[in-house]
Amino acid sequence: MTQQNAARNPGLYGGKSSRRITVRDIAAAKRRGEKWPMLTAYDAMTASVFDEAGIPVMLVGDSMGNTHLGYDSTVPVTLDEMTMLSAAVVRGTRRALIVGDLPFGSYQEGPAQALRSATRLLKEAGVGAVKLEGGERSADQIRLLVEAGIPVMAHVGLTPQSVLAFGGHPVQGRGEEAAQQLLRDAKAVQDAGAFAVVLELVTAELAAEVTRSLHIPTVGIGAGAECDAQVLVWTDMAGMTDWPGGRMPRFVKQYARLRESLGDAAKAFAEDVVSGAYPAPEHSFRS
Ligand code: KIV
Repeated sequence: MTQQNAARNPGLYGGKSSRRITVRDIAAAKRRGEKWPMLTAYDAMTASVFDEAGIPVMLVGDSMGNTHLGYDSTVPVTLDEMTMLSAAVVRGTRRALIVGDLPFGSYQEGPAQALRSATRLLKEAGVGAVKLEGGERSADQIRLLVEAGIPVMAHVGLTPQSVLAFGGHPVQGRGEEAAQQLLRDAKAVQDAGAFAVVLELVTAELAAEVTRSLHIPTVGIGAGAECDAQVLVWTDMAGMTDWPGGRMPRFVKQYARLRESLGDAAKAFAEDVVSGAYPAPEHSFRS
């Protein structure tokens, strides 16, 4: 976006304001029919790059289990890990709304546990909102958090914390019964007070219907073009992820080839060290 356009645009992306984005700004964007981008972030330096690029909402996703902590899924991620990385992302940003994920096991026991976990993320990490998975089954948790003044982003469709129950990553909402359940889930989280809802791996037609029927924004990942917002895991978006078996999911679009660039940089450094080309005189100190 040019500077002139940015000055005219009151929007979430490219808007002029340097204060933190709030959930009120998100609601206003839905009323304006404005689409917006969200990326995951897990550390201060990367988050600062996205903040400078104007990304208005960042999710400290429990996808950190796969991308940064070396786990096979999001299931092992702990609240301690989430708190530490969320705090780093908050410190690295000035404008974006930072959403911290509630990891598996930190809210399933019920509303009281959800409130304890979310309170920790707000007080210790400084996030502006939390996200949790589940539709009807998580509505009581969402309601209590919202009553306590905690903005909640919900997450329905494919919910990765239930990967063992799903037995993989199947597309959600196919067939009349599944579609009706997904609509009920989306409505339940809206009624419970969520300010936005992630739709993951949902057919494009159903995601469009959900988006039309809700007054809160939908954030799609593998859910077609009609959602109000789109989210990608940043390491997927930037070509950093090493896909198991080399199979990149269909919904990912890569905007850079960071894995290759970083590998090339590491090799060039190693070759310079081995050949003696680095450090050169200009990198050295003299007495
Ligand atoms: O953890 C995560 O990164 C997520 C997004 C994929 C929505 O939940």
